[in-house]
Amino acid sequence: MNQEMDREMTPSVTVRAAAKVNLHLGVGRPRPDGYHPLATVYQTLSLHDDVTVRTGPEWAVDLVCEDDIDRAAFPAGEANIVVQAGRLLVAHHGIERAAEVTVRKSIPIAGGLAGGSADAAAALVALDRLWDLQTSDEDLLAMAGALGSDVPFALVGGTALGGGRGEVVTSMQDEATRWWVVVPSFLGLSTPAVYRHFDELSPDAPEEVSVPEELVTALADPDNRALAAALGNDLQNAAIDLRPELGELIEAGERAGALRGLVSGSGPTCVFLCTDRGSADRVRLALIEGGQPRVLVALGPVTGTHVVEYS
Ligand code: C5P
Repeated sequence: MNQEMDREMTPSVTVRAAAKVNLHLGVGRPRPDGYHPLATVYQTLSLHDDVTVRTGPEWAVDLVCEDDIDRAAFPAGEANIVVQAGRLLVAHHGIERAAEVTVRKSIPIAGGLAGGSADAAAALVALDRLWDLQTSDEDLLAMAGALGSDVPFALVGGTALGGGRGEVVTSMQDEATRWWVVVPSFLGLSTPAVYRHFDELSPDAPEEVSVPEELVTALADPDNRALAAALGNDLQNAAIDLRPELGELIEAGERAGALRGLVSGSGPTCVFLCTDRGSADRVRLALIEGGQPRVLVALGPVTGTHVVEYS
């Protein structure tokens, strides 16, 4: 039997995890540990990665993706967050095991859509199911928080409030379907660099931040115009200052009919909230005609990490 057939016959679990946008990202001045206090509202989008795990002789990670994803930005081996997730899980259970992890990637890397965080959350759940570890939700959330600020939300999904440095997640009610146009940039933007620039631009940032009441009210309204008026991102000025073309892109999307455009998280992906699917399709076409190479339509919210295949 050849190696490929051998691999195909090894039990595997595939878990899906979604990209996120921040409907509001309130950022305060850095805490003593260097992290910024956040008051954010996350929402998952229908754009996702699939993570497949199989038991293997040592930790390994493989990337499968289209050409429009920057492969070079995907960390190899031990540096990859999915391997860190796996190592954390086996250490938690005091077992010695390793896995080969395949990431089927659609979420842009270093895009402000928390793609790496989604992969880490998916790896935790996939390995837990593969090895039947029955880790409690509480322990999974704690490990997720140790891996990164956005990882707990990727587990939970939907629409949720994020506090602390982003890792304290509380689900929110959002019955409506929100239509988004998503414009990734081939070149990523470093999250720490954007936070550093935010510090330079906002020396008077408050110690405590909160989510505006109008956003909470808008989430109860299925009309996307109310939500559009309440969107906000404190990192946006810093991201646009580092990449001025993002400001032009936001203007172009709004001119094309989007209710509101904003930088997603620390950028450089920009997202545009639209009235409905038809409007989102029209904005997408206008941006493509305007020269943007990759423009997607996605809806939110969708569910958090979940198993899509078991063999
Ligand atoms: O937690 P995570 O690994 O996603 O954070 C990446 C980087 O983003 C941190 O090292 C830090 O520079 C910055 N960050 C921050 N405050 C937060 C979240 C992230 O300064 N609340």
